[in-house]
Amino acid sequence: MRITVRSLSSFIVLVLLFCANSALGQNANPLEGNGRAIYAGAALFRAQCATCHGADAKGISSIDAPDLTLMWAERQRSAQEVYAIIRDGVPGSIMPPHGLTDTELWMLVAYLQDAAVSGVIGLPEGDVNHGEQLFTQHCAECHRAKGVGGALGPNLSVITKRRSLEALTTSVREPSALIGRGYKPLTLVTGSDEELQGVLKSEDAFSLQLLDRNQRLRAFMKSDLRSLQRDDESLMPAFSSAQLSDDELIDILNYLDSP
Ligand code: HEC
Ligand code: HEC
Repeated sequence: MRITVRSLSSFIVLVLLFCANSALGQNANPLEGNGRAIYAGAALFRAQCATCHGADAKGISSIDAPDLTLMWAERQRSAQEVYAIIRDGVPGSIMPPHGLTDTELWMLVAYLQDAAVSGVIGLPEGDVNHGEQLFTQHCAECHRAKGVGGALGPNLSVITKRRSLEALTTSVREPSALIGRGYKPLTLVTGSDEELQGVLKSEDAFSLQLLDRNQRLRAFMKSDLRSLQRDDESLMPAFSSAQLSDDELIDILNYLDSP
């Protein structure tokens, strides 16, 4: 191959741009969108991170390892922040620091940027008014949207901007498949023999706070409890397609997605 002066100078310009970008752009990943970096980052991820975060980076709820495809939209993480978390770990959790090179760290960030989910893309059109009715009938008891509804489940106001259609469908059809932090189901019996079911809001070695099924926030000392059981079944009922058809679900999502 003959290297012409022209191709050499455009190469130098590229290198200069690359350096300027990494020196100036505090929050920018110099490897963002770079196909080879994404590929290498994915391989590193499978080797070093997948045991905890899952092969698809969608998290493993039983060990509280978060879904890394949602952190960009949900927690507005910047590339620089994610870089620092991977390098330094999260003190007080099982997320370890990683002794990786600068390039390896940016490759991982590039992979995670590529895997980012930014919400429902191409939501099929549906009937917003019908969706509102269905939401009121089936969901509002536990979920808030557009300022009304319960608090046993997460607020769904911007859910279509945060999760993919596939992920939302799974949440509705198989709610127990992945239960997020703040919604872990719990059954306990109090010192006065009252049996309560709810979601665990917070906990330390001695006490816990539970939002019970009637959506009252209750605090307990663990030593006062007769029993405490962590359940695998979500408090959200699974909606089969016989109970809520795919079209009806699309109507609900259109309602949630509407301004
Ligand atoms: C031993 C299990 C484990 C391993 C291995 C692990 N993580 Fe984590 N990671 C966690 C846990 C648990 C958290 C949640 C920490 C917290 O906030 O309490 C976490 C948090 C994170 C976060 C912050 C997410 C957010 O939204 O705040 C990022 C980013 C992350 N991990 C990336 C990685 C990458 C990349 C690797 C591999 C290089 C990796 N982790 C390896 C368990 C692990
Ligand atoms: C009896 C209460 C209850 C009802 C009724 C209910 N949910 Fe839920 N929902 C929950 C709880 C609790 C969670 C959190 C635990 C989990 O993910 O399973 C949840 C989680 C979800 C999530 C995941 C949210 C996230 O942040 O990822 C979606 C989506 C959802 N529900 C949609 C619906 C829809 C749509 C309906 C009505 C068709 C509905 N839910 C009815 C209690 C309920």
